[in-house]
Amino acid sequence: MRIAVLGAAAGGGFPQWNSNGRGCNRARAGDPQVRPRTQAGLAVSGDGDAWILINASPDLRQQIGQSAFLHPRDGLRSTPIAAVVLTGGDVDAIAGLLTLRERQAFDLFATKAVHDILAANPVFEVLNRQFVQRRHAELDRPMALPGGLAIELFAVPGKTPLYMETDDAPPIVVDGTTVGAAIVAAGRRAYFIPGCAAMTPALARRLRGADVVLFDGTLYADDEMVAGGLSPKTGRRMGHMSMSGPDGSMAAFEGLDVRRRIFVHINNSNPVLMEDSAEHARVVAAGWEVAHDGMEIIL
Ligand code: MLT
Ligand code: MN
Repeated sequence: MRIAVLGAAAGGGFPQWNSNGRGCNRARAGDPQVRPRTQAGLAVSGDGDAWILINASPDLRQQIGQSAFLHPRDGLRSTPIAAVVLTGGDVDAIAGLLTLRERQAFDLFATKAVHDILAANPVFEVLNRQFVQRRHAELDRPMALPGGLAIELFAVPGKTPLYMETDDAPPIVVDGTTVGAAIVAAGRRAYFIPGCAAMTPALARRLRGADVVLFDGTLYADDEMVAGGLSPKTGRRMGHMSMSGPDGSMAAFEGLDVRRRIFVHINNSNPVLMEDSAEHARVVAAGWEVAHDGMEIIL
């Protein structure tokens, strides 16, 4: 199986358009220790021929342009992208669907909760239903997909998408609005979990012994956005586990025996994006990798 990281940043990307933060400015200036990153998404393939996208970020057009394996190969219109699988309804997971209009056939897999969000937004009807089949992905049931791999979606703790929040803090729920994706081919098992509010015993059991987990790396510290004066919201309030701390992802993965642990969906405020930072050194010392655009994992 091949896993290509199309984008490694969280919503907003890196640098984010309106951020004057140190990391964003270093990325803009071309600092080799601070690489720009587009918003999170993967392309996965079992045979290197047919590809499945997991999430369609607002940067998808650029991501396809930069990935030769996703370019058209036959006739005047074609694509090796056979299907798109969604792990949530946030803007950074779905806005790129609008790039995939143009009467091109592919299957769009999502849970009922996420399909309901798309159905309530008529702009997505631009994906002509004669060509784009909206397929229901049942939780905890592997789906055999073109290219010789299977993907299984499973619910993880999360919240309603940001743009659907009302004034009260939304509860953290495990209802199929936020899901992880297991990618299985030839006996290998990889996971993509770009948003996760907590490590539950069930999730820990599922991930134990995995070959690769690409996991929510939104914030390094839970109060990073508050302390930086960027937002009143903690990571927890945004539905994201943070990397550090007793409830953080580095602690939660200890003892899970996951061969490669890779942070993805990394917010522009997160100091690990600066490869010369103390925080970057700490996550590397804990056995983690920090994903970057163009990273390829072969299993
Ligand atoms: C998130 O991951 O919390 C959301 O993508 C935030 C956003 O949509 O900006
Ligand atoms: Mn996001």
